Amino acid sequence: YSLQSLNTFGIEVKAKYFVEIRSIEQYHALLNSGQYAHVAHIFWGGGSNVLLTQDINALVVKVAIEGIEVIKEDDQHVWVRAGAGVVWHDFVQYTVSHHWAGIENLSLIPGTVGAAPMQNIGAYGVEIKDTFDHLQAFHLDNQRLETFDAAACQFGYRESYFKHEGKGKYVIAYVCFKLNKVASPKTSYGAIQEVLLAKSITQPSIQDVSDAIIEIRQSKLPDPKDIGNSGSFFKNPTLDKESATELIEKYPQIPHYPVAGSTDIKFPAGWLIEQAGWKGFREGDAGVHAKQALVLVNYGHATGQQILTLSEKIKQSILRKFGVVLETEVNIL
Ligand code: EPU
Repeated sequence: YSLQSLNTFGIEVKAKYFVEIRSIEQYHALLNSGQYAHVAHIFWGGGSNVLLTQDINALVVKVAIEGIEVIKEDDQHVWVRAGAGVVWHDFVQYTVSHHWAGIENLSLIPGTVGAAPMQNIGAYGVEIKDTFDHLQAFHLDNQRLETFDAAACQFGYRESYFKHEGKGKYVIAYVCFKLNKVASPKTSYGAIQEVLLAKSITQPSIQDVSDAIIEIRQSKLPDPKDIGNSGSFFKNPTLDKESATELIEKYPQIPHYPVAGSTDIKFPAGWLIEQAGWKGFREGDAGVHAKQALVLVNYGHATGQQILTLSEKIKQSILRKFGVVLETEVNIL
């Protein structure tokens, strides 16, 4: 079964078996049938944060649980629950159109609702942990739905319990967010202010913020429909105070940000990669995006191995030039 259209990098690899599930009950029945008991099961969302480097000798289970539902509300908040298979951006647009605030800054992030908590998706000063209420996940061992609140999810920068101890143990089925009826738009990010200023918007609605973010993302991030990619390929590295001070002394132009609740400093990997001369680099069909060096791209027929090799070269080059270790953000399969 070809996975080419199911991964935003557009890599051509095959899965031995493939099924799509519309409910947890459907998956439960499949488990009980024993039909795929002899192979591993790999759960699939939007395929937007994965680099496929070889054929998959397993059952790929596409989680296609749909539905958006208000499960509770009071004067100020609304608790909205979405199925794991809902396309993330569709969910954001649904909430924005209902004037429920909190995730508008996460407009246009590829992928599904169910994949969002895995790495605590974030952009433009907001992470899902800020409005996350709880999720329900199917425990593969005891075959029951279990509820996780934010603390249980252990959210961090592009991190959660489901990438560590919980890895491979659960299928996220539903995610519920506590959104605000009263908006307090987060526009501190420079690029957002520029777009709003250009449109002379001084009191932005959440729709204005969402529109601005869509414009910014479209101007620098490649659309997977045109050029295969998985967004940021690397995480932005954090350094302890001492190493950070050294780096800033050596490169006074380097952008840097404080890390909340710590003396560590975060640096943009995109800047490091650009300074090392990689921006716009291309070798065969594997390349570094010309407008955002943090994004690796597939111009057509690159293999996952070729992209992986390019990423290793970039890591080595950043280590040599800046003494900084880059960590991969996408999952390598
Ligand atoms: N920069 C460069 N050259 C580049 C890219 C960036 O010099 O080629 C500099 C920029 O000028 C800026 C700084 O690096 O000073 C930060 O750049 P940008 O605002 O584009 O954000 P980022 O740190 O590169 C992160 C997230 C993105 C998210 C944006 C906006 C990570 C790994 N990436 O990128 O998330 O959209 O901030 O908040 O944290 C993703 O995870 O897939 C993703 C796209």
